[in-house]
Amino acid sequence: MEVQLSAPNGIKWTQPLGLFINNEFVESSNGQKLTTINPTTAEDICSVYSATTSDVDKAVAAARAAFRHTSWKRLSGTERGRLLSSLADLVEAHAETLATIETLDNGKPLSLSRSWDVPEFVGVLRYYAGWADKIHGQTIPVGPDKLAYTVRVPRGVCAQIIPWNYPLAMAAWKLGPALAAGNTVVLKPAEQTPLSALYVARLIADAGFPAGVVNILNGRGLEAGAALAAHPDVDKLAFTGSTATGRDVMRLAAGTLKDVTLETGGKSPLLVFDDADLDQAARWAHEGIMANQGQVCTATSRLLVHASVHDALVARFRDLVRHVSVVGDPFDRDTYQGPQITRAQLDRILSYVDSAREEGAVVAMGGGPATPSPPPSSSASASASASRGYFVQPTVLTGVRPHMRVFREEIFGPCVAVTPFEDEDEAVRLANDSVYGLAAAVFTRDMARAHRVAAELDAGMVWVNSSNDSDYRVPFGGVKQSGVGRELGEAGLEAYTSVKAVHVNLTSN
Ligand code: NAI
Ligand code: MG
Repeated sequence: MEVQLSAPNGIKWTQPLGLFINNEFVESSNGQKLTTINPTTAEDICSVYSATTSDVDKAVAAARAAFRHTSWKRLSGTERGRLLSSLADLVEAHAETLATIETLDNGKPLSLSRSWDVPEFVGVLRYYAGWADKIHGQTIPVGPDKLAYTVRVPRGVCAQIIPWNYPLAMAAWKLGPALAAGNTVVLKPAEQTPLSALYVARLIADAGFPAGVVNILNGRGLEAGAALAAHPDVDKLAFTGSTATGRDVMRLAAGTLKDVTLETGGKSPLLVFDDADLDQAARWAHEGIMANQGQVCTATSRLLVHASVHDALVARFRDLVRHVSVVGDPFDRDTYQGPQITRAQLDRILSYVDSAREEGAVVAMGGGPATPSPPPSSSASASASASRGYFVQPTVLTGVRPHMRVFREEIFGPCVAVTPFEDEDEAVRLANDSVYGLAAAVFTRDMARAHRVAAELDAGMVWVNSSNDSDYRVPFGGVKQSGVGRELGEAGLEAYTSVKAVHVNLTSN
């Protein structure tokens, strides 16, 4: 049920492979597995057990029993907070191993896994640990004859389906608020990145969570994911992934009217006005689309630039791509951009570049598969195997018009679409010309304009003079087809409770 793994940075660990149900690793009911790939080399890493629908039934039953059991039900908020803090401490103690697993399985630079993904997991858990004993209702004055009050109760069994772009962070965004509020959970990681959540599963048992409170099932979307979304004994469904799959899971959840939180796709605009600090705008614009290989739901993938500063901004952006976007082995210290997650994602990006060309946009930079630069110390064979990975060139498309697919559709890669505008009205019109409404960024030195434009943008999140600067204390989510509900912050906690109203007759009538 486990295997010894090692990574190019010399870290070795024991990797669990089972389904995590009732604090134990078990095989899938029919022994089926799925194989995860190292996107840097296109080689198999290992195979993990993959849940069948009957395994989903078992995990949901375990979560239901745990939800009813006094060892969880009677635990105070303070004690739930202590468990979350213990898990955060354990993850912190295993930080280097977890960062390594994330980079091996996902391909993101080790520097990023270390500086963002693992600390985000720890930070989110500690943040929600602090909330666990601060969840309460209201008393509502309704006259002398009646006492009315509300209590915030957990929803029950929560199914949580997460994507591959931030496997650890997405697990934390889901587990933190659900557990703080007293729910129990069945979490399904993405097929492409099953390993880090399984490693965390062992730490969950070590932290002392009662059996069945957290169950982690790897499995295929159409099998385990769909079974969870449709399951009659699941009370709440939280999903992060594509808008198309979001639509499917919402439909599946409708059978039993489950509460749903959906975090889906985006085509977020970054607006640069003529009074912006162009160096600052270029830096954030670059980071906003190029970080994490562009595999970010809130990536600012549309760059809308005032015509008078368009060429100057694009020149700065290209300069940053040349000097910052080092494509290479994610274990190499100098690497900014690792491989895309799969061959399919790489092909999809390249086909979007083709469509842009056909529709009349200009490929100003990149546009093809990339050969990763070999680390100075690497042997010829190491760089040869890296060259089989799913690397793409950071890509800049200019002259993009609103009818083009690259303006309208989520590419999910390091590929920015640049469109000029003439005035503020046109900028807002272009920004809002999308079925998505996840995030937006505005660059201007005029604070009146910043707030005016922020108010006009169809987006769940607006950044002024920054991009993709999210924070777990602040609500995260989208409008339009970018999702339903909010994660993080207090709003993220509320999503895992329901309000119960109690009416007490104070008279003898
Ligand atoms: P996906 O949305 O299909 O997968 C996300 C999760 O949903 C995975 O755990 C998967 O197993 C599960 N899933 C898939 N089909 C399901 C179903 N019928 N019922 C229940 N669960 C199901 O995303 P995929 O196919 O990996 O990527 C395709 C595109 O989705 C990307 O190119 C990107 O545009 C977008 N995407 C957006 C993300 C975001 O953060 N908003 C994250 C990942 C992908
Ligand atoms: Mg993988």
